Amino acid sequence: MLVLGIESSCDETGVALVEAGEGGLPRLAAHALHSQIAMHQAYGGVVPELASRDHIRRVLPLAQAVLDEAGRGLADVDVVAYTRGPGLAGALLVGAGVACALAAALGKPVLGVHHLEGHLLSPFLSADPPEFPFVALLVSGGHTQLMRVDDVGRYDLLGETIDDAAGEAFDKSAKLMGLPYPGGPWLAKLAESGDPAAFKLPRPLLHSGDLDFSFAGLKTAVLTQARKLGGELEARKADLAASTQAAIVDVLLKKSLRAIEESGLKRLVVAGGVGANQALRTQLNAACAQRGVRVHYPELHLCTDNGAMIAMAGAMRLQAGVQEATERYAFDVKPRWPLASLGEPEPQFG
Ligand code: KG4
Ligand code: ZN
Repeated sequence: MLVLGIESSCDETGVALVEAGEGGLPRLAAHALHSQIAMHQAYGGVVPELASRDHIRRVLPLAQAVLDEAGRGLADVDVVAYTRGPGLAGALLVGAGVACALAAALGKPVLGVHHLEGHLLSPFLSADPPEFPFVALLVSGGHTQLMRVDDVGRYDLLGETIDDAAGEAFDKSAKLMGLPYPGGPWLAKLAESGDPAAFKLPRPLLHSGDLDFSFAGLKTAVLTQARKLGGELEARKADLAASTQAAIVDVLLKKSLRAIEESGLKRLVVAGGVGANQALRTQLNAACAQRGVRVHYPELHLCTDNGAMIAMAGAMRLQAGVQEATERYAFDVKPRWPLASLGEPEPQFG
């Protein structure tokens, strides 16, 4: 079974082909990505209307590139999977519209996939795939959640951010330091030459006794510190970056360890764009090794948004029998869509 996956929820257009056999994990046949980061950089963040228009321009050429790379034709595609939400409504509509039009023209079924489930299952494409059950730390630009994952489609929310996401904390702090968008990778790079103990920044909710997060206060603390430094900011920027990263990583680490301890599970999966952060990986690896806990990540280039994770999530859902692809081509998108609600029935239409 050949699954074509299309991702267009935010500022990357991703298309991929995943091959699923009878048994074993589906395998990535080809994937292609166009990042809009350079286009949005001039505005310091994603401009939704520009994002939608660019997805329109990119998605079909990327699909052709992926088919060429895999040596397959459109007629070989068995199912078309697309990101149904959460994300920017207009951007999602492009992927959903193209996926459903393509599937209708081919007479093949479609499958709407949850973007976060894509992130969550992306480590199954790595050379060291996890096994169920596991604790998942989902850290992206829009979400920060700890989940208990028992199987495909069985996700229990253990805790989440009550305000900003971890990626937002990176991005907003980076913006305050004058770094380009998205600031996460830039701040991480700058932090390499800084002292993580230079500034005392808050670790919100670290001792709250639950598995929730809060990052809005950290951003304010970074702003206050930057203002205090005034003309000295430029010279101390690496120290401020390192201290900010240390605060974010510290909270993510401690809460993940708490979730592992409370669940009694011996496996952790880290997914989403912030999962690319090297400081986070180093600290999680060390702490988990001490506790006999295995940690799994997606391949580095599949941490941020991509089509491979959508094709993979679609293929795994079909394989597990938790969702059927349909030939109803009237589509909707879900800009807001809690992952834990995936198992619940929803109204049928079209
Ligand atoms: O998962 P993703 O591509 O998009 C969403 O679904 O939100 O995550 C993007 C986020 C951005 O906030 C970006 O700054 C952050 O991931 N990010 C990083 C790193 N690479 C990407 N944050 C910290 N360190 C990194 N190396
Ligand atoms: Zn994402």
